[in-house]
Amino acid sequence: MPKDPVSPTFLYGGDYNPEQWTPAFGYDDESVWREDMRLMREAGVNVATVGVFSWVALQPDEYTYTFGWLDRVLDLLHENGVRVCLATPTAAQPAWLSAAYPDALPVDENGIRRGHGARQNYCPTSPDFRRLGQELTRRLAARYGAHPALLLWHISNEYYGGAGDNGQPCYCDRCATHFRRWLRGRYGSLKALNRRWSTAFWSHTYTAWEQVIPPSPRTNHSIQALALDWRRFVSDVYLECYQGEAEILRAATPDAPITANFMGAFRPLDYFAWAPHLDVVSWDSYPAPSDEPSAIAFRHDLTRGLKGGQSFLLMEQTPSQVQWQPYNPLKRPGVMRLLSYQAVARGADAVMFFQWRQSRGSYEKYHGAIVGHSGRTDTRVFGEVAALGHELRALGAGTPGARLPARVALVFSWPNWWNVEYLPGPKQVTRNLAWSVERDSSVKACRTYDHVLSSALNYLDEVQRYYRALWERNIPVDVVPPDRDLSGYDLVVAPLLNMVTEGQGAAIERYVESGGTFVTSYFSGVVDDDDRAWLGGYPGPLRHTLGLWVEEFDPLRPGQTNSLVVPPGGPLPEGTYACDLWCDLLRLEGATALASYGEDFYVGRPAVTDHRLGAGRALYVATRPAPAFLGALVGALLDDKGIVGPLDAPAGVEVTRRVGEDGRAYTFALNHGTGAARVALPAPMRDLLTDVMHADTLDLPARGVAILTTV
Ligand code: GLA
Ligand code: ZN
Repeated sequence: MPKDPVSPTFLYGGDYNPEQWTPAFGYDDESVWREDMRLMREAGVNVATVGVFSWVALQPDEYTYTFGWLDRVLDLLHENGVRVCLATPTAAQPAWLSAAYPDALPVDENGIRRGHGARQNYCPTSPDFRRLGQELTRRLAARYGAHPALLLWHISNEYYGGAGDNGQPCYCDRCATHFRRWLRGRYGSLKALNRRWSTAFWSHTYTAWEQVIPPSPRTNHSIQALALDWRRFVSDVYLECYQGEAEILRAATPDAPITANFMGAFRPLDYFAWAPHLDVVSWDSYPAPSDEPSAIAFRHDLTRGLKGGQSFLLMEQTPSQVQWQPYNPLKRPGVMRLLSYQAVARGADAVMFFQWRQSRGSYEKYHGAIVGHSGRTDTRVFGEVAALGHELRALGAGTPGARLPARVALVFSWPNWWNVEYLPGPKQVTRNLAWSVERDSSVKACRTYDHVLSSALNYLDEVQRYYRALWERNIPVDVVPPDRDLSGYDLVVAPLLNMVTEGQGAAIERYVESGGTFVTSYFSGVVDDDDRAWLGGYPGPLRHTLGLWVEEFDPLRPGQTNSLVVPPGGPLPEGTYACDLWCDLLRLEGATALASYGEDFYVGRPAVTDHRLGAGRALYVATRPAPAFLGALVGALLDDKGIVGPLDAPAGVEVTRRVGEDGRAYTFALNHGTGAARVALPAPMRDLLTDVMHADTLDLPARGVAILTTV
């Protein structure tokens, strides 16, 4: 059984691509590697991710394997006290493979087979791609499974994505066949598929399986259930690729943990469905310079939630800048350290970078690295990285593996995300734009065909608004899928949960009856998981729990607003708050109104409601309120349950608490502000980073961090 946590002490290091510094590139000795070892020691590095893009260096042709250089690299790392996160190099196949097996290349949405190049540029159902990748995986496991440097396996790289990639599924005939096989598994019969896809509409009824084709801009995107299943299938088909390699590694090295590097809130892959197949989750954090700290915090919490709160690895981040966003400013002094500790504060046991040594040529030569083109160590970036490395080393054991106990759950669902705002595929957009669409759902350029009443619906944004209200109060939150057992939570928030099954509705009802507080928002409980509307009144299986039904939806135009009027004497502060985007028109069946609409023909009708059921309550927010309202609402619900953050901190100071198996608590305080901040302490606490005891206050400089314990 692989160990959890992966390492008893912090892991610190990053992607190491020594094959870029070999004879093939004109370096005729190992002097660069030896220098790397010296510098890794200097930087406090204890882990290196190796081999991610080494396929051709390990297998220059179909019948030749060249492991010698990797033997040397692993030995060198071992001699220098650096553990290895060993990757299977299957994210980018060699040119010889594409040339020998052209149908291993993917077909684009226009039916055109793509040429060789980039990475993640393969057809996921290609038997030759899978066979050759798995054979190399088998050989890597046999050769290095017992190597003392091996710490964990890293399968492929950022499945489905990565800057500069294809970033789309494959539309070849074989993938279509595979899709149909997947559908047969899901529906059993074509009759069931027709019924559940509502194909009687527009004469779409299928009379043979072969008639079902993947949805794309040149085919059919009018059957929403087909589009939804295609998304499910695409996530599953890449998972199949992962599993093909994972099974080989697990059989060869049962004790070595296996990971794949995820991308946070990445729309195409249902990471909740993936996570059970990984021993430890890892992810690559590349926040845009404009991302708020709460948005980054959300991605960490989402990642930690994937395996039910198990700690994770921050597999990649840039020490300084990336090269693939439209503008790539530097992380300011102190920001890399602050964001690294933010990851640790929210559950990371590793802080790792992309990449160790800056590439000399090609696509990523301007991407930041620990060792830049100058090769020097007297640089700002190397200095900051080395300082953090030594600081983490000094922390030693303790935090790795420690959990973040939470009384609040935030429900998140990929199929719901796809259903709310996702359509079959990029339309008339450039590939780069297609890529940003995947990473950032605020980019909506690819939507031409709306099934959901408003182009502005944005699931991630809606979830993050509620998350932010909790984050601002430093409330620990578990991000959970809709089917997770909710009984351990006092408050469950499920924004914009459009898709709700009967079983989920029943579980939520039981949760509320036994004392829980449940909150959902507009357009929730409208369809089942086949995207068929619930009959008899929305929100279908939540109707009884919420004590209301939704008579009509009124999506507002951009710039159009309504308002929420909160009367005096209730649990929420009296006043008028702005709201926009969407207004559900409610009919109450037991719920009471906490706020009503201030304008339009539905002025005075309920907009935010509360329903007592059994020992609990269920609230419905029928519109998108301004943050001030959400803050007041969330604050009132937390007060009601007596839920408080670990410390009472001023705005801009993020506080979390990790608790180790031994019960020891580590309280993290992170100042995201650009000025100093003072935090009042309820009891004397020691800062592990400075070893200073603070009697009753902690002063944090701008971007300052403290890790406090009470002993
Ligand atoms: C991704 C990839 C890395 C590298 C970085 C650059 O995260 O996994 O290989 O390309 O992007 O930011
Ligand atoms: Zn294909």
